[in-house]
Amino acid sequence: MQNYIDKLAVLHNENSDLELSQALSLRLSVPLYHSVDNKTPEDFFLSWRDGCLKLLDKELLKKGGLMVDIEPRQGEQRSWPAPKEGALAQAIGRKTRTVVDATTGWAQDSLHIFRMGYELTCIERSPVMLELLHDAFQRLEQVDWVTRLALSAPKLLPGNAIEILGQLDNAPDCIYIDPMFPAKRKKSALPKKSMLILRELLGADLDKEELFVTALQATAKKVVVKSPDYAQPLGGKPAQSFKSKLLRYDVYMKGT
Ligand SMILES: C[S@@+](CC[C@H](N)C(=O)[O-])C[C@H]1O[C@@H](n2cnc3c(N)ncnc32)[C@H](O)[C@@H]1O
Repeated sequence: MQNYIDKLAVLHNENSDLELSQALSLRLSVPLYHSVDNKTPEDFFLSWRDGCLKLLDKELLKKGGLMVDIEPRQGEQRSWPAPKEGALAQAIGRKTRTVVDATTGWAQDSLHIFRMGYELTCIERSPVMLELLHDAFQRLEQVDWVTRLALSAPKLLPGNAIEILGQLDNAPDCIYIDPMFPAKRKKSALPKKSMLILRELLGADLDKEELFVTALQATAKKVVVKSPDYAQPLGGKPAQSFKSKLLRYDVYMKGT
């Protein structure tokens, strides 16, 4: 997943530690700049700003950039047993204890699952997203309720879930998949900036069918697939489907 080469650079911010920027540019094998302008060939930048690692495109340079947001979404709170309300909670279910998120991305679903109290492991194959996730999970471990409950951030496994899922020590109760679907022109369903930038940087996930088949083999009980409402179900007719605004969580049970 080196498809970010030639598209990405590290932009050093003078208020941050130069050694961190240098190490990041070496790890990712991308150039390190101290300033950028319209002639800079790369379109995307990683930069430490306001104590977080952020991803920027040229449009975001002045606005501040995107980080993995660890704050709860409206209405969410840490609870266990998991809530009965909400499409994601219903799809994962109350008999589930262990969850693997095979497509972590910006971790908004992962963090929701973590806050609901499930035992979560995250997989991500993009080295760029992994850098953003490492930074976010470090921040998460400093959050009040996480320290109070003596919790650790979810385990983060780098690499292709199609390979990793087959090598897990214990089959999780649920494997969660939210691959990148091709965009559809529909004004009301325009994706958020964070998803647009991910799609531009990484492209669509063309192996999502293979990921689904692997996940169904690797899970102990179920696979949950998040899809835009216009997409065909990834694994054929699901056992159950929970709808939320403009999207669906399709549930597939093992052995059915
Ligand atoms: C649509 S985003 C997921 C968004 C995420 N659910 C969230 O809440 O932010 C898809 C992510 O899954 C990752 N991904 C897709 N297929 C993968 C695979 N086979 N193995 C590991 N990561 C994968 C992509 O790199 C991308 O970061």
